[in-house]
Amino acid sequence: MRVLEVRDYQDMSSIASKIIIEKVQSKPDSKLGLATGGTPIGLYQELIRDYRKNGTSYERVCTYNLDEYVGIDPEDPNSYRYFMEKNLFAHINVPESQVHIPDGTVEDLEAECKRYDDELNRREGVDIQILGIGSNGHIGFNEPGTSFSSHTHIVKLAETTRKANARFFERLEDVPTQAITMGIASILKAKQILLLASGIKKAEVMRRLLTSDEVDEQLPASALKKHQNVTIIADEEALSLAK
Ligand code: GLP
Repeated sequence: MRVLEVRDYQDMSSIASKIIIEKVQSKPDSKLGLATGGTPIGLYQELIRDYRKNGTSYERVCTYNLDEYVGIDPEDPNSYRYFMEKNLFAHINVPESQVHIPDGTVEDLEAECKRYDDELNRREGVDIQILGIGSNGHIGFNEPGTSFSSHTHIVKLAETTRKANARFFERLEDVPTQAITMGIASILKAKQILLLASGIKKAEVMRRLLTSDEVDEQLPASALKKHQNVTIIADEEALSLAK
């Protein structure tokens, strides 16, 4: 894993955006693995700014999101589908038919996991996967204890994750208890992975990730140590305990 230390959130966002933009310009039919959460919003803003200024086209790009809440309608402002529309898709020219996000509203969730995996398996793996990290080390919604050989599956969200995400909801009770997420094995199929981390809230998990060689299912992000092309772009605060 290569670690790029940057000054702050803005620098993290702009360096990550340059990597994505270069990829899309050199390979216009790139497959991008996308994430939600507060971390990638600045990166998406940079992509939008570049799209408006330089016209980088997403017409042939396909996107695959990591996860979605169970039981939240795609039109609901708390769904990850809505988040992606608002923060990225509505502002660039990616065709809707090339956007892929698990559907957490279907009756047969197992079938939906299989459908999403089949969709991912039809490709050789995304060109670049963007990841944030939960303060308990989760990637996507793969909570501690998730098997490293997991594919798309249904998860019960850790209480710490529900609390961390409650800031997007009116009340903690409104935060779903389940989600569909790409598994660790699905994530590791990406050709290149960019893990973004910003702020003091991520300092402890970055310490755990970076100060030992241990690869442990209790720290889902440690699976990334098994991948050949991972770049961590993290700011000074996020790395403050990892020195
Ligand atoms: C969420 C998402 C993850 C995200 C993480 C960190 O629960 N499912 O994909 O990376 O938690 O979120 P944030 O970027 O808001 O800190």
